[in-house]
Amino acid sequence: MAGLLGWPVSHSLSPRLYAYWRQVHGIDGHYVPLAVRPDHLEQAVRALPVLGFRGVNVTVPHKEAVVPLMGRLHPTAQAIGAVNLIAIDAKGRFEGRNTDAEGFIAHLRQSVPGWKATGSAALILGAGGAARAVCVALLEAGIDRLIIANRHTDRAERLARALDQPRISVAGWADRFSVSRDIGLLVNTTSLGMTGQPGLDMNLSLMPTDAVVYDIVYAPLKTELLAQAERRGLQAVDGLGMLLHQGVSSFELYTGIRPRVDDSLIEHMKAALSKAPARTTAAEGP
Ligand code: ATR
Repeated sequence: MAGLLGWPVSHSLSPRLYAYWRQVHGIDGHYVPLAVRPDHLEQAVRALPVLGFRGVNVTVPHKEAVVPLMGRLHPTAQAIGAVNLIAIDAKGRFEGRNTDAEGFIAHLRQSVPGWKATGSAALILGAGGAARAVCVALLEAGIDRLIIANRHTDRAERLARALDQPRISVAGWADRFSVSRDIGLLVNTTSLGMTGQPGLDMNLSLMPTDAVVYDIVYAPLKTELLAQAERRGLQAVDGLGMLLHQGVSSFELYTGIRPRVDDSLIEHMKAALSKAPARTTAAEGP
């Protein structure tokens, strides 16, 4: 038994993702969407061990709220300040984990073979929860320099202070073009460019020709930012892979099998996405 804690969860693609892997590996099991109101969260979490859950994923709006309920926090979840996977051991104890950072890096490495964090600088657009997971991922991977630019600069400054690393600096939102000159990796973690949201006004013309542009928005799959990157000959990485890769460790926890993100899974999920209402970015969970 496994599932997804959120409010709401009916839109979620997670049950399809885990059902696909269960079918590939011939595993019997259940992945249950658990729509839990914020004021019922603690009760719901405490009930999971006696209901036989091996673990659950956590999505909006509960990712931060479950943190104080955990017996232990994995260091990456601690650094991100949010939990998207609760592991439940045989004694019913909770460990809070976060697989967004590893999902982000795994998809980057799969999409851009040979990508190296060391000797490289990244520009992060946005300063919300998704930005924090991406920053932690890049810091853990050994990035040399991180610049955060956010519409509200004070939020970017708070994020930089919380991560407390000399490798991080903050740029004004209006300076996002000029600071992109020596940047090897640009990541959009804002909701701009998502279906139903305003577009992201970004000019990629100053970026080096071997730079990578990563948009964690996955609806549409090819955002205007990624289309612009392709026109310039830059490597474009979309948000769907991050969404799928962040599920890999969850499935491994639930079943003991580490599944693959391959082309047939991507096609399967694209088909599911085309029928689902557009919603959010990869870091908010499928
Ligand atoms: P998440 O947890 O998914 O990162 P969030 O905390 O709501 O979501 O953050 C959304 C991000 O998109 C923020 O960086 C937000 O900028 P502000 O912090 O300044 O609000 C950014 N964002 C949303 N709408 C925007 C807009 N119209 N222009 C610029 N940035 C925008």
